[in-house]
Amino acid sequence: MVGELEIEPIAGSLGAQITGMQASRIDEGVAAQLRKALINHHVIFMPGLAPTPLEMREIASLYGPVDAHPYLPKADPEIPEVDILDSSTTPAADVWHTDMTFVADPPLAALLHMVDGPEVGGDTMWINCHAVYDTLSAPMQAFLEGLTCIHDDAGQGKRKAEHPLVRIHPETGRKSLYVNKQFGRRVPQLSRPESQNLLGFLFRWQEQVKFSCRWAWRNGDVVLWDERVTLHSVVDDTAQRRVLHRCSVLGDRPEAPASAPTWPRHEADKMASSGYFGFGGYEF
Ligand code: SIN
Repeated sequence: MVGELEIEPIAGSLGAQITGMQASRIDEGVAAQLRKALINHHVIFMPGLAPTPLEMREIASLYGPVDAHPYLPKADPEIPEVDILDSSTTPAADVWHTDMTFVADPPLAALLHMVDGPEVGGDTMWINCHAVYDTLSAPMQAFLEGLTCIHDDAGQGKRKAEHPLVRIHPETGRKSLYVNKQFGRRVPQLSRPESQNLLGFLFRWQEQVKFSCRWAWRNGDVVLWDERVTLHSVVDDTAQRRVLHRCSVLGDRPEAPASAPTWPRHEADKMASSGYFGFGGYEF
């Protein structure tokens, strides 16, 4: 038993740093503290933890079954659930996003380990989507609760999913705004100009620095975040190579608040045959 972990917030909106933990010694007491820390802080940072791929899979498994990505290279052929993200082959994910919202059951959480990063730069930022929702006016919150958004993977694999714009956290019941600029395309209950202007407003609203925290990586650092209530983006300010190990926890279907009204689809949605008409173009 390691005892009480030290958990210290690193920003006003979300994120806490955990010390006093060893990747090889995670017993039920530590696991319970980690689960609670994720719910309370949404992103948890474990500086210098330096887990092996097997230990990464064990930490991710504390939150649920882990996912094996079909295409990404693997950190260890025996541990297919731990992928390698290498900036020399994969472009930096520098648009605010929540992972894989173009599938029906997007991930619950993700775990990253910086294996070989730059001396400075290449930080990652996260946003608290409870705060994004909570700071909207009551009429805007009520309006959004009856709407959904269609997400797609920008044509890569032609994957598409529809999710409520306001999502209930399955463990706490708290509401959050559930949309992101990388994959969110249109609100099918609205006309095209209404949809584009609403999404434009929501993307600008959610990307305010006051909702964020930022981590300057050192090799060995590990970060775990709750995908159900956060956005993240890399600060793409360095040409130096970044190599990370990554593991994802399988998620469930995002749920709207029980009180949300249901609206029919707008005529314009029926005309959006390709399902993708991008963002921009309409100014009102
Ligand atoms: C990601 O978007 O999942 C990767 C974040 C990072 O490279 O820091």
